[in-house]
Amino acid sequence: MIDYTEKIPNNVDLGRDRVLQRALEHWQPAYMNWWYDMGPSESHALEVYLRTATSVEPDGWAQFGYVRMPEYRWGIFLQPRDAARQVNFGVHKGQPAWQEVPGEYRSTLRRVIVTQGDTEPASVEQQRLLGMCCPSLYDLRNIFQVNVEEGRHLWAMVYLLHRYFGRDGREEAEALLERRSGDADNPRILGAFNEPTPDWLAFYMFTFFTDRDGKFQLCALAESGFDPLARTCRFMLTEEAHHMFVGETGISRILQRTCEVMQEHKVENASDVRALGVIDLQTMQKYLNFHFSVTIDLFGSDASSNAASYYTTGLKGRYEETKIEDDHVLQNAEYPVLEVSGGKIITRQVSALTALNERLRDDYIAEIQGGVDRWNNIIEQAGLSFRLTLPHKGFHRAIGNFAGHFISPDGEVLTKETWENNQYKWMPSPEDHKFVQSLMTGRVIEPGKFANWIAPPIRGINRQPLNFEYVRFN
Ligand SMILES: [Fe+2]
Ligand SMILES: [Fe+2]
Repeated sequence: MIDYTEKIPNNVDLGRDRVLQRALEHWQPAYMNWWYDMGPSESHALEVYLRTATSVEPDGWAQFGYVRMPEYRWGIFLQPRDAARQVNFGVHKGQPAWQEVPGEYRSTLRRVIVTQGDTEPASVEQQRLLGMCCPSLYDLRNIFQVNVEEGRHLWAMVYLLHRYFGRDGREEAEALLERRSGDADNPRILGAFNEPTPDWLAFYMFTFFTDRDGKFQLCALAESGFDPLARTCRFMLTEEAHHMFVGETGISRILQRTCEVMQEHKVENASDVRALGVIDLQTMQKYLNFHFSVTIDLFGSDASSNAASYYTTGLKGRYEETKIEDDHVLQNAEYPVLEVSGGKIITRQVSALTALNERLRDDYIAEIQGGVDRWNNIIEQAGLSFRLTLPHKGFHRAIGNFAGHFISPDGEVLTKETWENNQYKWMPSPEDHKFVQSLMTGRVIEPGKFANWIAPPIRGINRQPLNFEYVRFN
């Protein structure tokens, strides 16, 4: 008999809860089967220099060492409990935070946890082939780090399902291992998590844009009146920061390399840039447009009665709820949302409660803009006039007020025909994908070497040098 309490690092006293332990004993082999099937391709024998969390203390959550990924110790960690914590918003504001699931909110909470949990294995599935064409050992190690941590995030949500939701929770935990990203019959729950991640440019865009959606959802859930969910999400956020770092610096390094080559050879034209084996800035803009638009759909409809009820009942707060100075009830407040009316985009004031998705989306966009500004600094410092821009919020949307409309990156309302004639000026065409993939046909695994289309990072992982053997092939 395996001692699961020892196998699963945790700070939730697993060993003292027999029911929970049995549930996890049952789920763990299914999880391992999923990892072997859907985890990174041909990676099982590799030794990877990974960070493992063994406690939530500052010296415990970032332990580095070589690990074969199937032997990674996926642990269960909650931020320590604050006995004085209260429900901080909605109709239950001021009551002690709930340590057990309130009966009337059981199915809603379960759905919120399942929806979050479903994204974690989905991204591992989306990224499973990318190791085969990595631009360096450093990048290979980073994608594997992201993958094992998304696996741990699944564990975090499954812990909540097993611990607090009995039989329904166990069934949902099984189903989380059965859905598959992009599967026609049994897809993942949310749209962006069924899109392919076909190359490393898409991977960095995904970790910059879509992992950051994860951050904002986790921040909203970290405000939850259901205390175990709040504490779980707080700890997940420490790991999410690294995923976004991988994305932002990955794009920065591609831009830096492209700009270097453009300067060195005095070329500006996209096809000349491509001929030199680097990714042209126009293609970077198209990928940005695509990933931004599918990611902001994840926040949901602009006006949503579900969002209002999650808030009013204390299940899901706003971004940095406790730092906001208002009544935290929002019964009489308004918030502006956009809609298309008479061929134009107009602003309308709606109830702040129903507009909570839109508000979270706006908070997200503000943070994204900061990253885009930093990318533009790289281009500017190279003396080039090109600038990356975020498309209009209505561009290429499938959910909310803009669904069914055709909006240009500048926010112009178009006819379907104009959209169709222009869409590949704004989003990657099959040829663009083919070009990017043509740069990424083999993997670069000599320590210290980087593919031609990306600059080395400024520093290595955990203060190791750039030519460190981040992954051992043996
Ligand atoms: Fe995650
Ligand atoms: Fe992530």
